[in-house]
Amino acid sequence: MTSSLRWCAFLLSLVSLGRAIILTQNDASLVSSTKYDFVIVGGGTAGNVIANRLTENPKFKVLLLEAGPSDAGQLELQIPFLCTHTTPNTAWDWNYTTVPQAALNGVSISYPRGHVLGGSSSINCLVYTRGSKEDFDRYADVTGDKGWSWDNMLPYFKKSERFTPPADGHNTTGQFDPSVHGFNGRVGVSLPGAATAIDGRANAAFDQLGGEFQRTLDYNSGSPVGFGWSQAVIGGSKRSSSSTAYLAPQYLQRSNLHVLVNSKVSRILQTDTAGGLPVFRSVEFNLNGAASSTKVTASKELILSAGSLNTPQILLNSGIGSSSTLKSLHIKPLVDLPDVGENMGDHPIITLAWTVNSTQTYDDFNRNTTLQNQEIQRWKQTGQGVFVNGIAQHIGFVRVPDTSPIFSKVGDPAPGPGSPHFEIFLSNFLLGTTPPTGNFLSISSIMLTPTARGNVKLNSTNLFGAPIIDPQLLTGSTDVPLLREAVKSTLRLVSASAWNGYILAPVDGQPTATATDAELDMFISGSARSAYHVVGTSSMTPKNAKTGVVDPDLKVKKVGGLRIVDASVLPFVPAGHTQAATYALAERAADLIKADHS
Ligand SMILES: Cc1cc2nc3c(=O)[nH]c(=O)nc-3n(C[C@H](O)[C@H](O)[C@H](O)COP(=O)(O)OP(=O)(O)OC[C@H]3O[C@@H](n4cnc5c(N)ncnc54)[C@H](O)[C@@H]3O)c2cc1C
Ligand SMILES: *[C@@H]1O[C@H](CO)[C@@H](O)[C@H](O)[C@H]1NC(C)=O
Ligand SMILES: *[C@@H]1O[C@H](CO)[C@@H](O)[C@H](O)[C@H]1NC(C)=O
Ligand SMILES: *[C@@H]1O[C@H](CO)[C@@H](O)[C@H](O)[C@H]1NC(C)=O
Ligand SMILES: *[C@@H]1O[C@H](CO)[C@@H](O)[C@H](O)[C@H]1NC(C)=O
Ligand SMILES: *[C@@H]1O[C@H](CO)[C@@H](O)[C@H](O)[C@H]1NC(C)=O
Repeated sequence: MTSSLRWCAFLLSLVSLGRAIILTQNDASLVSSTKYDFVIVGGGTAGNVIANRLTENPKFKVLLLEAGPSDAGQLELQIPFLCTHTTPNTAWDWNYTTVPQAALNGVSISYPRGHVLGGSSSINCLVYTRGSKEDFDRYADVTGDKGWSWDNMLPYFKKSERFTPPADGHNTTGQFDPSVHGFNGRVGVSLPGAATAIDGRANAAFDQLGGEFQRTLDYNSGSPVGFGWSQAVIGGSKRSSSSTAYLAPQYLQRSNLHVLVNSKVSRILQTDTAGGLPVFRSVEFNLNGAASSTKVTASKELILSAGSLNTPQILLNSGIGSSSTLKSLHIKPLVDLPDVGENMGDHPIITLAWTVNSTQTYDDFNRNTTLQNQEIQRWKQTGQGVFVNGIAQHIGFVRVPDTSPIFSKVGDPAPGPGSPHFEIFLSNFLLGTTPPTGNFLSISSIMLTPTARGNVKLNSTNLFGAPIIDPQLLTGSTDVPLLREAVKSTLRLVSASAWNGYILAPVDGQPTATATDAELDMFISGSARSAYHVVGTSSMTPKNAKTGVVDPDLKVKKVGGLRIVDASVLPFVPAGHTQAATYALAERAADLIKADHS
């Protein structure tokens, strides 16, 4: 094709897509011939925040490169209830698994990550929890930057958030605290939009038992301990992802933003040297799986937002990491940063389930495709019904008493006395594999204060394929004991009389209230999995620290021109599901970047 014909084909492809600025043409010539100020690698949760905020300045020309496809028009990605159908091993997943996990009976577990515009925010299960004030104050402490403290970050949580009435329009007074939420931001956050058969009994159980099950108005206030209504990233009746929120049509239409999907970045390249440091402002990527790569260079900064697994993979493939390890992989070491890919933290999760005396659970919607299709039609036509809900109706955070013998030898891994050790959430169906028949209540617990640290490494025989992922789940000294406390707490919760006549029996093989610690631990090693909250693989540490990967302003240590903005910079997992923290950190990062180039 001549270049003018190619240009016509390109314009046609834009028209047919509707979302004009998503470029999918088989030709990277437009991108190659454009001069960008910033290039962002990864159109995921954090990357799209940066793309949106930087292009608020019409003088900044920005390229966003995403390995996966566009999320447009994909019903499974839009319908909150179908979140459990978006992974693993789908068109929107990187399809990763871990190496065998010693504390999980040597099993390799599935480890999904979003491979689609919006990244993991397009495929996750929508839970919106921020963590504790002390989590953020600890980030400030360990980095020496007060900017990461809760008081400084709360405005960024609010800036990212658009708290939205639930789909059913019910009166939400007393179900959340408006003073800690944002109402004019980008990401929709909502309370449950359809009542379920367990709501009344769950609230009655919390009130009957009190104590560890005391209710709280809003666990997103910075003081999470207590139980409340679940908050999820839903705007109206639809999933709100970083793509639907930060790359909504009005932002995609900005002429200074180019979004290129199906573009996998293999590595970044040194462009020059400044102040004695190597500067990395070029990236190499392969469009639509092409064998030959395209190179683009940012004039101001390159921003890696490829997530906790792929950001370290790109750094290592670019010669940034442990020099000795890189040498053994025959990669030329350019920058010695031994902590790239190390310090991985993640939350283990375990689900308990009971058969129940009800036909009003959501199990059938997960296994009967006729019913599923009927409900999809209802969702499309009315924006109402079962499918406007995510996986949880109620969520609570519990703190193990300071006097617990678990802490006597090694201390309390929580960041402070107001922080919980585990989370419990209730689902009106069996979360996990749905059996062919039966109605279930399931209660999942997440251990929030892991001391296990894993890592992500390159596969020596396939450097650009799946990295080798080892979260070392539950190998920290307080990890199993604290998850065991969560299971005990869950068993106490179902002992409340509010469940009489509803809960029938535990599912096969599940421990009951009389189980010994050894029996509980056997259950944990057989059933615990990851909650997919992986962080820490490009941790921030103080400026000039010998450890860590980025400075508190998220600039990569020992190099110029390069920042990391994604969940991998968080040195500890917060006491919450990780997307809210990722949005807030990206909002602050956008301000830091803008301030440097104003
Ligand atoms: C199945 C699942 C369920 C979860 N449930 C919840 C939940 O309910 N609530 C919650 O708060 N958190 C949840 N999480 C965690 C949360 O979604 C993540 O912590 C968060 O989205 C991470 O954001 P990120 O920007 O770091 O990475 P991501 O959002 O994963 O973005 C990384 C992006 O970079 C792209 N990319 C990667 N490599 C390359 C490359 N080489 N070239 C170009 N692009 C690349 C990816 O395709 C992706 O789009 C869940 C995660 C998973 C996987
Ligand atoms: C993950 O697996 C699905 C199903 O096999 C496939 O369609 C998809 O392309 C895979 N993802 C990647 C990134 O290869
Ligand atoms: C919502 O409920 C609160 C407290 O129960 C009540 O004061 C308020 O009037 C109600 N609002 C509406 C619009 O009904
Ligand atoms: C599936 O749902 C449809 C629609 O509600 C119903 O008619 C059918 O009997 C269900 N199938 C099974 C196997 O339960
Ligand atoms: C590394 O890659 C090779 C080749 O693709 C593959 O056979 C092997 O299983 C991978 N190793 C691990 C630990 O994933
Ligand atoms: C099931 O619930 C009905 C009322 O809905 C009640 O009459 C019956 O006793 C319950 N069955 C059990 C086994 O609790």
